[in-house]
Amino acid sequence: MLRKFAIAAAALSAAVVGVAFAAGEAEHPHDYPYSFDSPVGGYDMGQVQRGFQVYQQVCASCHGMDHLAYRHLGERGGPFAVYRVTNHETGEPELHVGQPAHGGTFVEVTDNPYVRAIAEAVIITDADPNSGQPADRPGRISDRFRSPFPNEIAARASNGGAYPVDLSVITLARHGGADYIRSLLAGYDGQTEGVLHHNPYFPGGWIAMPPPLVEGAVPYADGTATTVEQYATDVAAFLQWAGDPHMEQRKKTGLVVLAFLIVLAGLLYLAYKQVWRGESH
Ligand code: HEC
Repeated sequence: MLRKFAIAAAALSAAVVGVAFAAGEAEHPHDYPYSFDSPVGGYDMGQVQRGFQVYQQVCASCHGMDHLAYRHLGERGGPFAVYRVTNHETGEPELHVGQPAHGGTFVEVTDNPYVRAIAEAVIITDADPNSGQPADRPGRISDRFRSPFPNEIAARASNGGAYPVDLSVITLARHGGADYIRSLLAGYDGQTEGVLHHNPYFPGGWIAMPPPLVEGAVPYADGTATTVEQYATDVAAFLQWAGDPHMEQRKKTGLVVLAFLIVLAGLLYLAYKQVWRGESH
């Protein structure tokens, strides 16, 4: 009996090792110190804004983000949320992207000029309300992020048979999250085989996505370096925000709950002391 058990256990562990090998083929992503890694850390909104720019100018030609509408960019906690503040020198009201350290009134997305400009710069093709024929129109803030291809067949036809997945929740869907995306995008080593490119971070090692990032291709207005690695870091941060836009609020709530529980524990302890005062246990 015991021997049978030992044989079964040996067979099982061999199978587990086999599976581990098959899955462990890809290189482990670099652990980059993102601001959102810590239990209290929020997003670096400048980084999320730059990441959106990289997505919009590079990735959006192949990947959609169907879960996101342009208006989400300007909601509370979004990278282009706008607040009305008073200029200390002139006393005039002005708009401030991102929540100021103190004061500031949130401006509703419908009045957010940045989000409107982002949406209107996109050409959306849908049915004309009068003729029913496909027609181009500028985007609206209520539109979902534009899909680059009308359907999966068209997407595959343009990409050598491979499918550029929707990136809405990619950081949640892949082990390693933002670190994986960052490592993958900056991890090409130049080897190619037909339409495939070698990338040690991609399971299997060969990916049909050509290296999308080129140094200097996306101009940054804030003086941040325009290297492939920086683009990869920023776009991964944007995708992290897109997959989890309410993280900051959740962490804040978590802290409040934690503080409440600590106070409650203290009170309970004092009550316990009070009740049992003078009693010998
Ligand atoms: C020229 C089209 C093209 C562009 C531009 C492009 N991709 Fe891709 N991407 C693809 C294709 C095709 C695949 C599927 C590859 C495969 O399955 O081998 C893919 C796959 C991916 C994957 C999935 C990897 C996985 O684990 O399944 C991620 C993540 C990704 N792309 C992110 C990006 C980001 C971020 C950008 C912008 C910086 C970008 N892509 C730009 C075509 C593109």
